[in-house]
Amino acid sequence: MNRTATILTEHVSHSFTTGKIVQPVIKNINLTIFNGEMTLIIGPSGSGKSTLLAILSGLLRPESGEVQVNDTQLTALSRHELERFRLMNCGFVFQGFNLFAAMNALNNVVLPLVYGSKIPKKEAIRRASEALDTVGLSHRKTMHPSELSGGEKQRVAIARALVKDPPLLFADEPTSALDKHNGQTVIDLLHHIAHEKDSTVVAVSHDNRLIDHADRVITIEDGCITDDIRSFPERSC
Ligand SMILES: Nc1ncnc2c1ncn2[C@@H]1O[C@H](COP(=O)(O)OP(=O)(O)OP(=O)(O)O)[C@@H](O)[C@H]1O
Ligand SMILES: [Mg+2]
Repeated sequence: MNRTATILTEHVSHSFTTGKIVQPVIKNINLTIFNGEMTLIIGPSGSGKSTLLAILSGLLRPESGEVQVNDTQLTALSRHELERFRLMNCGFVFQGFNLFAAMNALNNVVLPLVYGSKIPKKEAIRRASEALDTVGLSHRKTMHPSELSGGEKQRVAIARALVKDPPLLFADEPTSALDKHNGQTVIDLLHHIAHEKDSTVVAVSHDNRLIDHADRVITIEDGCITDDIRSFPERSC
């Protein structure tokens, strides 16, 4: 496996202003994240996990500091360039699945391929079927979200995030709506994707049960990194 630093942050800070109150949420974070492994960011509610993930993925521009992803300085991009960057490079998985109820699993996964791109329908269907196969759902292609279990819905959402083969995959609380078994299936899948595809996978969770399934666990408390542990010390940077 070819492990390289893919995301780099330098002195990243961010605060939110509500009325006259300025709340510092991310405080001077210096972080290097690698491909080929699953990085899990944990911490208590309100510690800044989702905000950090949004900054790492280019969804949110930090107030100060630099974020570099491969050769791209995210903090130097315009809003439009950033949108394009995300479209080309990032897959997202969120807690609520965000599937279209009126479409079956296959069409939910086909959607990102036909939206804004000129991939022929036949090829899009082939790739969507392959992505559903990767998440073990070939047999559920024609089912609608209402006919799927929570774990299956989340796996469809992962297939949809994967279908464009993005080098970066971000997941915010991907297991919080799931029971223990389905939660582990989903986290094992994210782990597998990082290893099989050499992708950079960053997941955020306050579910401590996921720790054993990650290659690296970063703890954030009150906007600061307080711990950074690898399960495979020989691979540490
Ligand atoms: N858009 C916003 N405007 C104002 N404050 C915000 C905004 N987004 C987040 N915050 C505040 O920033 C802090 C960190 O929020 P964040 O969502 O990053 O926490 P979190 O660690 O993901 O929490 P949880 O585990 O509950 O999802 C919280 O106090 C939150 O209220
Ligand atoms: Mg959150």
